Amino acid sequence: MVSRVIPVDDFDLVIFGGTGDLAHRKILPGLYRRFLAGQFPDTARIIGAARTKQDDAAFREEVRGAVVKFGGVPEGDENLTAFLNLIGYVAIDASGEDGWQDLKSRMRSGVIHAFYFSVAPSLFGDIAQRLAGYGIADADSRIVVEKPFGRDLTTARELNATLARHFVEEQIYRIDHYLGKETVQNLMAVRFANILFEPLWNAQYVDHVQITVAETVGVAGRGSYYDRSGAIRDMVQNHLMQLLCLIAMEPPYHFDPNAVRDEKLKVIRALEPVGPDDIVRGQYQAGGEGAAYVTDAENPDSRTESYVAMKVRIANWRWQGAPFYLRTGKKLRARTSEIAITFKEPPHSIFDDGVPRANQLVIRLQPNEGMNLKVMIKEPGPGGMRLVQVPLDMTFAEALGNDGADVPDAYERLIMDVIRGNQTLFMRGDEVEAAWAWTDPIIEAWETGKTRPEPYDAGSSGPEEALRLLHRDNRRWREIRA
Ligand code: BG6
Repeated sequence: MVSRVIPVDDFDLVIFGGTGDLAHRKILPGLYRRFLAGQFPDTARIIGAARTKQDDAAFREEVRGAVVKFGGVPEGDENLTAFLNLIGYVAIDASGEDGWQDLKSRMRSGVIHAFYFSVAPSLFGDIAQRLAGYGIADADSRIVVEKPFGRDLTTARELNATLARHFVEEQIYRIDHYLGKETVQNLMAVRFANILFEPLWNAQYVDHVQITVAETVGVAGRGSYYDRSGAIRDMVQNHLMQLLCLIAMEPPYHFDPNAVRDEKLKVIRALEPVGPDDIVRGQYQAGGEGAAYVTDAENPDSRTESYVAMKVRIANWRWQGAPFYLRTGKKLRARTSEIAITFKEPPHSIFDDGVPRANQLVIRLQPNEGMNLKVMIKEPGPGGMRLVQVPLDMTFAEALGNDGADVPDAYERLIMDVIRGNQTLFMRGDEVEAAWAWTDPIIEAWETGKTRPEPYDAGSSGPEEALRLLHRDNRRWREIRA
């Protein structure tokens, strides 16, 4: 099987915050890989824009360093030099007037213009206003905004309104990088390109769904951001919510941006409020080699959660009675993201062995992307009819050869989608607002209750209370393992 690269049209991409961490770690190495793949013309321009005063040559060296360090590229790589020729730099004051005329003079006409806001959200309004005011952005331009998109419904609405003063919704690309992950897109392929699963994809046949995003990293180095967010704002309101939507949504009439996003929005609106008994929040304490959250966050009194587990009910015909259990946390025992759909047992057993036989479909998002379907078979050999559950295991890298292993990073895919003008994998403004409307009461209850998160040991599977959340429903979490 040969990877197909569909080239995009010529573009000028301006990265505000071009000297920042995200640009260095993800955006620039990602662009380099797309360049290597031949996905964009070698006339394309990538312009870093930031406060630091430096010239094109100095920024190119900075980009070289970032691509070598974070893209795993050898120092003397010849293609890298060709890539650096596409790079320019403008020193700019996002909330003042310096640099904007210079930027304007760099933009070519007749090519796509994209502006990546890889800066603090407090600067979004200033940048949007100047792009419009200086006549740099036109009706075909696109802007890309990073999370966090607000910290509650009110601030998200304000941000949407600020951007809407200068850009229409079709120009705004709100990134949730989980949507750019290959296996996350695969959720839609599995559901909507196979007849096998969809007839069973409802509360009549599904017992429950578990969504797990477990990380081994802590928050050291980004404590000042994280301590104001916590797992609910950092992961649940966006990444886990998007996964839930893709599993729970109705089939869209077409794989088209608004058709897909309409269906996701309906799911978010159908989420029941989560009461205090249905949610557990945790905070890691020192364990094994790992320091405690309060040490990593440099805030000894912090009540911020680094772990959340919750039971979510979706009030619609498809899902009434089949709960979704979500959990995510830092410094857990393994890095693993997966979605497990546990089906109900057959209504009547003709075998007298008492072996439980609930099928389970596990979609592993990372690492070892793949799918695993647990089915019952007869244990081979004589001695009567003994049943055993075996996995039908498909690791995509094995099934697809190199094409399965060589998956583009989420950012690569998403940036190319921006240039293509395809918003399917980006969040619409109303989706983001609906997600906040659902998480706000949870956060408010924690804040007014002044409760402390449950402690769990760094390197463990999370707090004990999270186990009880499922035990009381006679269910168990899947083990967290790589
Ligand atoms: C980011 C969060 O959005 O996603 C981080 O801010 C988290 O806290 C990261 O670590 C996880 O992304 P991935 O791609 O490593 O699963």
